[in-house]
Amino acid sequence: ANPSLLILPGDGIGPEVMAEVRRVIDWFGANKGLTFDVSEDLVGGASYDKHGTPLTDAAMAKAQEVDAVLLGAVGGPKYDDLDFSVKPERGLLRLRKEMDLFSNLRPAQCFDALADFSSLKHDIVAGLDIMIVRELTSGVYFGEPRGIHKEGNERVGINTQRYTESEIARVSRSAFELARKRSNKVCSMEKANVMESGVLWRDVVQEIHDAEYPDVELSHMYADNGAMQLVRAPKQFDVIVTDNLFGDILSDCAAMLTGSLGMLPSASLGLPMANGRPKALYEPVHGSAPDITGQGKANPIACILSFAMALRYSFDEGDNADLLEGAVQQVLADGARTADLMGPEGGTPISTTEMGDAILA
Ligand code: NAI
Ligand code: MG
Repeated sequence: ANPSLLILPGDGIGPEVMAEVRRVIDWFGANKGLTFDVSEDLVGGASYDKHGTPLTDAAMAKAQEVDAVLLGAVGGPKYDDLDFSVKPERGLLRLRKEMDLFSNLRPAQCFDALADFSSLKHDIVAGLDIMIVRELTSGVYFGEPRGIHKEGNERVGINTQRYTESEIARVSRSAFELARKRSNKVCSMEKANVMESGVLWRDVVQEIHDAEYPDVELSHMYADNGAMQLVRAPKQFDVIVTDNLFGDILSDCAAMLTGSLGMLPSASLGLPMANGRPKALYEPVHGSAPDITGQGKANPIACILSFAMALRYSFDEGDNADLLEGAVQQVLADGARTADLMGPEGGTPISTTEMGDAILA
């Protein structure tokens, strides 16, 4: 059977950038014999408008069945006053929660042609290609006890950093699996010098490594040093695995090494399904961009690179992922720029569809 994909374009520029991904998918079918069973459904405001809910049970069930889900973006000013229970982002949160997507992959990849967009020097980022794996469903954002209490005559704010062995083990497996599809190197980051959860994190990552992935090169680093190293010499890393809080901060930091929001893909992975593929949701990091919706200005590259991640991490199509990423690299080197990629020197931006055309060509 063909591998299956569920496409959820969502709101705002979501459908505009996803239209370009559809053309890329069709191209692989026509030229590489790589055919997907593609279905499409609504999510976010688009689903609320039609069904009164940001994700129907039928769409949820479909997401659980397919090999990978590809999502555009959700939200927009039209929905800002809705009750929280039916807000567009609830559709996305439901997908993440019910699919149990505990491993969040945020690549920071710097195409040479855009290296001058970085706030860092050209040589520090040119050719950069690293992957931050952030634990997404546990840690200090979820640990109990939490809350604001009165102690004596002052208030105390409490959060608890809590990780079980199995939570650390499953996200480290996810990172080691990824490393094997890249350059086989993992750096784990925590604060074992001051945190008990950090001591356990370091131990468990090392144990999983020694027992199951001895072929992968593993190192450990304190997360504060990691932040410094990311800005000082980011190319020393390949895969970084870290907890929810440190991952939140380090992945935003790494993302900005590369420049525009319109360029950043992401993936969220869960446990392996019966066919061995992990549960998976791929989406651009950006939102629905209401300020440019309907104007043909959106950069489709983040969404197209999200599909490249699906090729690599869900479908074992590393060569075809390389081909697609190479095409993006080439059009940027040739000078193709959507409006968000215009430097101070100016020039004429091309449209969403023209960028799609260039990549296909
Ligand atoms: P945003 O990411 O939609 O836009 C921020 C800025 O970046 C805007 O100026 C926008 O025009 C620009 N931009 C974003 N993607 C672009 C692209 N592909 N090409 C060119 N320019 C691009 O974030 P914002 O404005 O904070 O949020 C807008 C809506 O999106 C809100 O309703 C928010 O809740 C939602 N949102 C949804 C996300 C998701 O679906 N995962 C993530 C972030 C925000
Ligand atoms: Mg963040």
